[in-house]
Amino acid sequence: MKTLISEKEIKQLVKKLADQINFDYKDKKPILVGILKGSIVFMSDLMRQLDFDLEIDFISASSYGGTKTSGEIKILKDINCDIKGRDVLIVEDIIDTGLTLSHLKKILESRGPKTVKVVTLLDKPSRRKIKFKADYVGKVIEDCFVVGYGLDCDEKHRQLPYIAIFK
Ligand code: IMP
Repeated sequence: MKTLISEKEIKQLVKKLADQINFDYKDKKPILVGILKGSIVFMSDLMRQLDFDLEIDFISASSYGGTKTSGEIKILKDINCDIKGRDVLIVEDIIDTGLTLSHLKKILESRGPKTVKVVTLLDKPSRRKIKFKADYVGKVIEDCFVVGYGLDCDEKHRQLPYIAIFK
């Protein structure tokens, strides 16, 4: 496997995102909603650099029938908190087709939050099947499959401290 993003670069990307988010949310008390499972490593690093009051929750979703082309997703584990009137920041590891996030965002928006924004560590815009733009993007990457730093291939390689191209 070839390293695409080193530990040092990941730290810089997380710091850059945290600086932007600290600026935008300084007077707010958002709920960070991590998308399981891939976002947990990124979320734990990001939240430790945020200097405002926050809460965390998690959501887990999968596409129906195991295909990412159906455009429909199924919630496997929902958040536990009430987001009505709250600022919600969805934390994602990578955006690929955009289907998961665009559906999850709509589901959360239907519950009456004040705002819903998205932060993603990685983005593969060339793979989009639906128009979707995150509010905060760590790094745009080419069309390749990556593992490490929470990202998996069949549940493997999540624990790598760097991000590698999986062949
Ligand atoms: P989307 O609905 O196609 O945008 O799917 C996003 C989800 O697909 C991410 O949360 C990841 O779980 C998974 N995914 C997409 N690309 C990769 C990759 O390169 N490596 C590992 N998982 C990926």
